[in-house]
Amino acid sequence: MAKTDKNYIQLGKRGRLNKNNKLNSLTGKEWIKFSKSWFVHRPTKRNKTEILHPAKYPESLVKEFIEFFTKEGDWVLDPFLGSGSTLIAAGESKRNAVGIELSKKFYNISKKRIKENNYKAKVLPFKGNSKNITNILNDNDLQKIKFDFVITSPPYWNQLERNNLRQKNRSEKKLATKYSVNKNDIGNEKDYKKFIKLQAEIFDAVYDHTKKGGYLSIITNNVYFKSKLYPLAYETAISLTKRGKKSWILKDEKIWLQDDKPLIALGVNNAWVSNRHHQYCLIFRKEN
Ligand SMILES: C[S@@+](CC[C@H](N)C(=O)[O-])C[C@H]1O[C@@H](n2cnc3c(N)ncnc32)[C@H](O)[C@@H]1O
Repeated sequence: MAKTDKNYIQLGKRGRLNKNNKLNSLTGKEWIKFSKSWFVHRPTKRNKTEILHPAKYPESLVKEFIEFFTKEGDWVLDPFLGSGSTLIAAGESKRNAVGIELSKKFYNISKKRIKENNYKAKVLPFKGNSKNITNILNDNDLQKIKFDFVITSPPYWNQLERNNLRQKNRSEKKLATKYSVNKNDIGNEKDYKKFIKLQAEIFDAVYDHTKKGGYLSIITNNVYFKSKLYPLAYETAISLTKRGKKSWILKDEKIWLQDDKPLIALGVNNAWVSNRHHQYCLIFRKEN
């Protein structure tokens, strides 16, 4: 046996786990697999409660990120909790987690979903505005927590309210095409530049509660509105790196390819309009 082998544990087909792995509990084989800059993820069909939220991301996807960027017992944060997917994924992975959601309706959905499971880890949903994360943590005696990893999907600016074909289907089924009417819901900001600023301010607040060396992953997209592409994903990436002392370091992107969405006839015989079937998972780190 080679001298260095004492540093490794063989985990069957999973591969070898390096006992000195600083970030996670994955084997070298699993680490390399996750490092690919794109992935295809086909989530299972959403159930009746989950479909009430208009823009839920799959727990299975979040779980892969959580298991890459943390170890068991670490703390995860989602400042735009929605229907609670991040907390479910964290609970399943034995990570502690805090989620903040502005809308009472979605907060209640996440509470209900968590209650249905009996996680050993602490998974804590709170109702509130993420800009006030410091007060929310203080009020709940959690001020000492420094998050190891933040994963979230903010509103994609005005995407939900747009009167496009996909939203038409939702309104016909009487499902929400707006998160809330709350003025603190950043998705209600009509002005694109102001939206970018509001979003960055929330990540300033998150910065204060993330540990040095901790990662942040934001799932977002560029958006098409009134015959023009707004590079929301790119501007999210840039804006968070220009926040003075609270600047996040942009590390990379992972592109989520959605090959399970039906193609819609957009602009056919007239002009180029894309069937946008991918999303950006932006990866930042707090280094100061
Ligand atoms: C894209 S959704 C998140 C969906 C979530 N990842 C899931 O899987 O259900 C964005 C969420 O952010 C919430 N939100 C918007 N502004 C907020 C704010 N200032 N503080 C907290 N939550 C906010 C909205 O109500 C919405 O549920």
